[in-house]
Amino acid sequence: MKQINRCAMPERLVKKSQKLKILTVNTPFVVWFTGLSGSGKSTLGVKLTDELLSQEVPAYHLDGDSLRTGLNYDLGFSREDRRENVRRAGEVAKILSDSGTNVIASFISPYAEDRLKVRKLFKPKQFVEVYLNCPLEICQKRDVKGLYRAAKHGKIKEFTGISQPYEKPKHAEIVLDTNQMNPDQCLKKIFAYLNSNYRL
Ligand SMILES: Nc1ncnc2c1ncn2[C@@H]1O[C@H](COP(=O)(O)OP(=O)(O)OP(=O)(O)O)[C@@H](O)[C@H]1O
Ligand SMILES: [Mg+2]
Repeated sequence: MKQINRCAMPERLVKKSQKLKILTVNTPFVVWFTGLSGSGKSTLGVKLTDELLSQEVPAYHLDGDSLRTGLNYDLGFSREDRRENVRRAGEVAKILSDSGTNVIASFISPYAEDRLKVRKLFKPKQFVEVYLNCPLEICQKRDVKGLYRAAKHGKIKEFTGISQPYEKPKHAEIVLDTNQMNPDQCLKKIFAYLNSNYRL
C-alpha cells in the first residue's frame, strides 16, 4: 500500500506556538466506543456528547451510521471496506482533534488491527477505547434496527457477531457491561475516567 507522508504540509504550516496553545490548554481526547451492533455505542455517544457540550466542553460525535450516509457511502461491509470505514473515521477524528475538539466516536470497529491503527494516530493518553461488553444474545434481543432479524433470515450477508467476527479489545481503557448497567451509570464511569485524566 502507498505510504503517505501525512504531516509534511500541515506540520510546516502550523506555527509551533499555535500548536502548543491548543495542546497545553486542553489536549483533546478521543473516546472510541466499540462493540457489537446494539451494544449501546450511539446511545452513549449522543449522551456523552450532549453532556460535554452542556458543560461547554467542545465535543463532536462521529457515528458509524451517519458517516455511511456521506463520507463513507461508497463502502460496504467486506473485511476491506470495514478497514477503510474505520481508517477514514480515524482520520476525521484526527482532524477534529487537531482543531481542539474532543471526539466521541461510535463504530462497531470489529477488528483489533484497525482499532490499533486509529489509536496510533494519537498520543498515548489521548485515545480512550471504551469497549461496550454486551452478550450477543442481549444485542439480538434488543435488535434496535431489526438487523439481527434480517441477518438471521439471510437478508444481510456480512454481519458482525453472526457471519463476521468481533475481536474483543484486550486493553481497552474502559469496559462497560451495558447489559448490567443503565446508560447513566455508564456515563458516570466515563466521566470518572475523563475527570481523573483530563481537565474538563
Ligand atoms: N447501558 C446502556 N448503554 C447503552 N445503551 C443501552 C444500555 N442499556 C440498554 N441500552 C439500550 O440498548 C440499545 C442500544 O442501541 P444503540 O443504537 O445505541 O446501539 P449501537 O451499538 O449504536 O448499534 P449499531 O452498531 O447497530 O449502531 C438502545 O435501545 C439502548 O436504550
Ligand atoms: Mg449506532
